[in-house]
Formats: sequence, C-alpha cells, structure tokens
Amino acid sequence: MNIPELQSVRIDLADRSYPIVIGSGLLDQPQTYADLPNASQALIVTNSTVAPLYLQRLRGALQGKYRQVLEVVLPDGEQHKTWQTLNLFFDALLGAGCDRKTVLFALGGGVVGDMTGFAAASFMRGVPFVQVPTTLLAQVDSSVGGKTAINHPLGKNMIGAFYQPQLVVCDLDTLRTLPPRELSAGLAEVIKYGPIADLAFLDWIEANLDALLARDPAALAHAVKRSCEIKAWVVGQDEREAGLRAILNFGHTFGHAIEAGLGYGEWLHGEAVGCGMVMAAELSCRLGLVDKPFVQRLKSLIARAGLPVRGPQLAADDNAGRYLALMRLDKKSEAGEIRFVLIDGPGQAAVRPAPDALVREVIDACCA
Ligand code: NAD
Ligand code: GLY
Repeated sequence: MNIPELQSVRIDLADRSYPIVIGSGLLDQPQTYADLPNASQALIVTNSTVAPLYLQRLRGALQGKYRQVLEVVLPDGEQHKTWQTLNLFFDALLGAGCDRKTVLFALGGGVVGDMTGFAAASFMRGVPFVQVPTTLLAQVDSSVGGKTAINHPLGKNMIGAFYQPQLVVCDLDTLRTLPPRELSAGLAEVIKYGPIADLAFLDWIEANLDALLARDPAALAHAVKRSCEIKAWVVGQDEREAGLRAILNFGHTFGHAIEAGLGYGEWLHGEAVGCGMVMAAELSCRLGLVDKPFVQRLKSLIARAGLPVRGPQLAADDNAGRYLALMRLDKKSEAGEIRFVLIDGPGQAAVRPAPDALVREVIDACCA
C-alpha cells in the first residue's frame, strides 16, 4: 500500500495560529499531542458511532498527559446539533470539576467538531480544544478555520462563535471505516475548492476521482492537504468572514435551504452542498458569469462523486417560494436580500445578490 508521509499545513492567525497534521496512524500516538498545553483534565467528545471505533485509541494516547480523561458520547446525527445536546458537555465539565485549562477533544465528524468548538468557546468563556476529524468532510473543511455552531429549527448553524482549535489531527486511516455515502458527502467539499479557487485542483479531482472513491491513501492525502491549504489561505486573510471567506460557502445558500427545508439529517450536509453547487453554478450561468459547458462539467463531476444533482421539492404549492424564504435566513443575507456565492469565471468566485425571478427559474429548472 502507498502510505502517505506525514504532512502539515499551518493556519496563520498570529497568536491563534495552529498546525493541521495529516497522515496515517496519528490518532493513537501520544507524540501527536505532545505540544499541547498541559492541564490536569481532558474531555473527549464523540458520538455513539465513532466511540466504539476510536474512543479507546484516543484515550490511550492522552492518558499519559492528563491526570483524568473524561468522555461524553453524544447521540449521532445532525438533528442532535442543538442546545439540548450542548448541555451534555456542560453537565460533564461542571460535574467533574473541570477548570479553564481543561482541553476538549472533538473526535468525530463535523457535527461533533462544531458542537465541541462551541462548547469550548463558551465554557468558562473559553478553554482550549483540539479537532480530531474522522470524516472526509471534517478533515477537508469543518475542523479547520474555527467556525463553531449549533442549529436552530429556523436555520442551520445560526448560533455559534469563531473559535480556533489548538491543533487539527487528520488521521487518514479513520476514513477506511466511513460509509460510502459519507465519503461522497466529503467529496462535495473537496470539489468545492476547485471552481472557487483552484482550477488545477479541479482538473486533479476529475483525474483522480476513481482513486478517491476507492480510498487510495495517496489520493486522499493529497485531497485533504490541498483542501486544507486553500482553506488556510482564505481563513488567514479573513478569519471572521468580513468578505473573502464567504466564497467557502459556494453551494451552501441553496444547500442549507435543502437541509432546513427537508428537516436536518434527511439529506447529508455534503449532499445538500453538492446539489447546491449545481444550482449556484446554474445561477452564475444565467447571470452571464460562466458558460454552460463549465456548469455541465461541474455537474458531471458531482454526479460521478455519488452526489445528488437535482434539488428536492420543499413545498407542493410554491417550491421556489419556500427555497427563497429559507435562503433569506442565510447568514450572508443583508436586509432580507439573499447574497449568493457565484462562479465569476472558472476558478474564481464572487458574492452577489440576484433577482428573485431568476432564482425562481433556477430552482424550477434544477428541482426534481
Ligand atoms: P457527521 O458529523 O454527522 O458525520 C457523518 C457520519 O459519519 C455520522 O453518522 C458519524 O457518526 C459517522 N462517522 C464519523 N466518522 C466516522 C468514521 N471514521 N467511520 C465511520 N463512521 C464515521 O457529518 P460531517 O459530514 O462530518 O459534518 C457535517 C457537519 O459539519 C454539518 O453539521 C455542517 O454544518 C458542519 N460543517 C461545518 C463547517 C465549519 O466550517 N465549521 C464546514 C462544513 C460543514
Ligand atoms: N465552511 C465554510 C467556512 O469555513 O467558512
């Protein structure tokens, strides 16, 4: 087997800078965590699916460093990314007498990572935390950059904070146990980086998609590293999304409407983003920003990755109206005006409003 070498990408944010380490066999090595600040307690947060696979291995690696290693096992699923679940963190931390040096470890996908980050940002007004992402989506996107949040019934990721981890550990071996549907969902966020920032990477993904789907270690290592490099470049310039960082939300305006409209957990986040990218590319085309062959190229790649390319019906009577109402709640909206991440020529993105009538046409054309 082609075992990739240990790689590292740095997020450069002055005193909030940190490394993302990428490689094989990292999770259970005490050395991986050697440079973290000392503390007497650590709390590992994971979920009921990931715990039987990796919890004891992480616990074993941390036991020499921390006097007490606590754990919280959350119910699995996007529908549990809520206030109610967040309280389980605080019950465990306060119940065990944890202090403000306690280090939180997020072991799992983006749901565990986003919630652990938010708990770390708010417990005692901020404690250190480490991301140990175990899904492709979390390794290429959600564990990096410090966006943390929970959902509200009216909108996704609406309550949260920008709060950077101390370290991100991408152990590629964990991707071997990922269900195929989750691998495809992660590929949506990998593909995202091509059209918005790096056409050469888009070419590479097209050429290596079969290897990625077959979980070739070298292909996965490159996909994770290049995705993290692009994200690091964007976040390093615009940590709090004053402007540029919004391009990382390509496909998410339509995608979040799909997730909220169907009910969280019905479509996976990556599936909604994949389909949302097709809709956003179609809107870009109808605004004259990109040509039809590019939209078709992106759509074919998303379909090859095993992702849906036609949006679901969210309402029987006025489907487009329902999409628009949900998209007005998007965090990029200003004074009720939806702002879309559009492809402004291949490899480049722009954030702009679009006429409702045109958005309706796109929704009608793109929904099943
Ligand atoms: P997820 O966390 O729900 O994980 C997907 C599924 O895979 C879950 O059932 C999980 O238990 C399981 N799983 C995790 N690791 C596994 C492994 N190694 N083997 C077997 N099963 C495993 O979903 P996700 O796709 O990782 O993340 C989606 C979430 O991330 C969404 O809530 C989304 O809003 C958020 N997100 C956040 C950011 C950010 O910047 N913070 C970016 C993108 C997405
Ligand atoms: N996933 C989008 C961002 O981190 O900004």
